[in-house]
Amino acid sequence: MSSNYASFLTLIFLIITSTVTGQRSQFINLYNSTQCLTAPVFSATASTTYTFPVGVSTLYAQVNGLWSVDFCRNDNGECHDRLIYSGQHDNCSFVAVMEYCGLLKLTRFGDVNQIERTIRFFAGPNFTGSSFFVEPPGKNFTQPSIIRSYYFSGLNIWELKADKTDVWGTCRFYSDIVGSNGYGFTYQTNTAIQIGAVLPGCDWLITTPRGSTTIHSTTPNSCENMKCIIFFIAGSIFLSIFM
Ligand SMILES: *[C@@H]1O[C@H](CO)[C@@H](O)[C@H](O)[C@H]1NC(C)=O
Ligand SMILES: *[C@@H]1O[C@H](CO)[C@@H](O)[C@H](O)[C@H]1NC(C)=O
Ligand SMILES: *[C@@H]1O[C@H](CO)[C@@H](O)[C@H](O)[C@H]1NC(C)=O
Ligand SMILES: *[C@@H]1O[C@H](CO)[C@@H](O)[C@H](O)[C@H]1NC(C)=O
Repeated sequence: MSSNYASFLTLIFLIITSTVTGQRSQFINLYNSTQCLTAPVFSATASTTYTFPVGVSTLYAQVNGLWSVDFCRNDNGECHDRLIYSGQHDNCSFVAVMEYCGLLKLTRFGDVNQIERTIRFFAGPNFTGSSFFVEPPGKNFTQPSIIRSYYFSGLNIWELKADKTDVWGTCRFYSDIVGSNGYGFTYQTNTAIQIGAVLPGCDWLITTPRGSTTIHSTTPNSCENMKCIIFFIAGSIFLSIFM
């Protein structure tokens, strides 16, 4: 490749990334109109807490990224059920307002650009309870634990093993919407998975074609052990015959 051609490609890459970076910055806006068109009543780009005024009884949320909304009591920090919102500056979603709560807590998950190669697990559903995260090169846990929710960002794939001695794990692929945007969150809010080891990628599976689908979902494309092995073998046979 000539150096002129290489610098041309670099330039194109820089133009694309600088255009895209603005679009993927996380935010949450809460409106008092059903179309999310007026000026937002509450707005944040990082986790914050607002004093919640008496009299605000209807709210609609528009977010970029992955956020939670909690209505909490002033005194002891007791909160109502956590509400989760995700999107790419698209939906205008109804917020079930808990009046007379005193505090409105807005929590942002993950990095501002929605691409970080990190997976975070929570003991409770809806990203509640104690949490831990894993980054490359992964982690082996002496004591496996049951997690109830998790999220990860970007075009990343993680392998989850129930026990660190297991040979095979379950592959968690980024969702299709993340695949088409190049950024965003893949998550589950209500599950039960035993985590004994976490590895970045699913290297033993990478030779298998992912298959193209246009269904947009926020749940990961998971792949159970036997299915993966069958795909892997079928893929290998296909490659050895036709390549
Ligand atoms: C809705 O929010 C706007 C902007 O903050 C405010 O001017 C307006 O009075 C609010 N309307 C209602 C019905 O609360
Ligand atoms: C979890 O989030 C969903 C959707 O935001 C909400 O309806 C549900 O009440 C929450 N559950 C708990 C246990 O917080
Ligand atoms: C956003 O709206 C689309 C189309 O109505 C829907 O399929 C999708 O589930 C919504 N996303 C969220 C996070 O609510
Ligand atoms: C986890 O354990 C496996 C098997 O013993 C080992 O190959 C791997 O390097 C370990 N990973 C980390 C991050 O310690």
